[in-house]
Amino acid sequence: MNAPAAMPHVMNTYGRLPLALSHGRGCWLWDTQGRRYLDGLGGIAVNTLGHAHPKLVPALQDQIAKLIHSSNYYQVPLQEQLAAKLCEISGLSNVFFCNTGLEANEGALKIARIIVYEKAFHGRSIATLSATGNPKVQKGFEPLVEGFVRVPLNDIAAVEEVARTNPNVVAVFLEVIQGEGGINPTRWEYLRDVRRVCDERGWLLMLDEVQCGMGRTGKWFAHQWAGIKPDVMPLAKGLGSGVPVGAIVVGDKAKDVLGPGNHGTTFGGNPLAMRAGVETLHIMEEERLLENAATVGAQLRAGLERELAGVKGVKEIRGQGLMLGIELDRSCGELLQRAAEAGLMISITADSVIRLVPPLILNADEAAQIVAILCPLIKSFLS
Ligand SMILES: Cc1ncc(COP(=O)(O)O)c(C=O)c1O
Repeated sequence: MNAPAAMPHVMNTYGRLPLALSHGRGCWLWDTQGRRYLDGLGGIAVNTLGHAHPKLVPALQDQIAKLIHSSNYYQVPLQEQLAAKLCEISGLSNVFFCNTGLEANEGALKIARIIVYEKAFHGRSIATLSATGNPKVQKGFEPLVEGFVRVPLNDIAAVEEVARTNPNVVAVFLEVIQGEGGINPTRWEYLRDVRRVCDERGWLLMLDEVQCGMGRTGKWFAHQWAGIKPDVMPLAKGLGSGVPVGAIVVGDKAKDVLGPGNHGTTFGGNPLAMRAGVETLHIMEEERLLENAATVGAQLRAGLERELAGVKGVKEIRGQGLMLGIELDRSCGELLQRAAEAGLMISITADSVIRLVPPLILNADEAAQIVAILCPLIKSFLS
């Protein structure tokens, strides 16, 4: 790859590919050298509406020209508008707005904390890092926040054991589909069992839907496939379709835990972010993007399964809607660059899992193109 200038003044915290993106349209991106890429990554499950959406752009331009930021000293009508919509689609009752996923989780952990999961990822602040179940990202930041009990995913006996032996537990906190941990879905029956244990014990069920929520799986929220409701649900990523918006959506049991002075953030709920959220949800409904995520997600998955059937080294293809993972039997970090060179954006997570979290506007033809670019790369990598 022909690298653009490096970034010597920016702290070196990411392993970046030697390319810089300049603009996008729909599910396509262009770099500063004029090369085009199909976006299978969506800015890591963020660009719900793709790039430069023809309805979102003018709405944001209109908002920027009116008011970008005011302050939570005052009422912000767009906050109420977005909160009401989030309550309508989740069946919950109240919302606190922040800016990122870790902030939403940090707020959730101020409401309650205790049972967390192996391979979980909740963010990189000290508290959310402590809840995260990945020793690699925790290393070097000890002492971590205490008060978490960790259990494996999809093992209800482990939760029941904690219920029997630990009287200090007040909540269970998990991702419905683990993202960074390698696209690991929670079984719907397991989720219903966890809900039951929480109800029996008076615990709060807190579901991190930062990555798997906002329509990605084909329903507004992934837990809705299990027919249950959480008490606390942190959101971010896709909520603003690229504009940073975080939210903690809570039900009756949790809505009064935090009161005036207990929690806050300068930028949270600013008019620009709220307008992005309101318009994103509106456009998602208008363009039937939940149905699209389910249908095109199934087509993408079927294409991957067809092309990779029987390929030695492909362990599993899993996920829901447009949140898919292909697990290989070996580390595959180098596929990130190889895919970019072939004109496709993907990500690699948990070392050996190829993650696809494209914009929810992906169409069938683009899904077929992802399959056509990615599968030969995987095959040649494994051979
Ligand atoms: C499930 C989950 N929770 C929280 C976070 C943290 O979000 P942010 O990077 O916006 O702080 C992430 C980010 O990948 C995530 O996948």
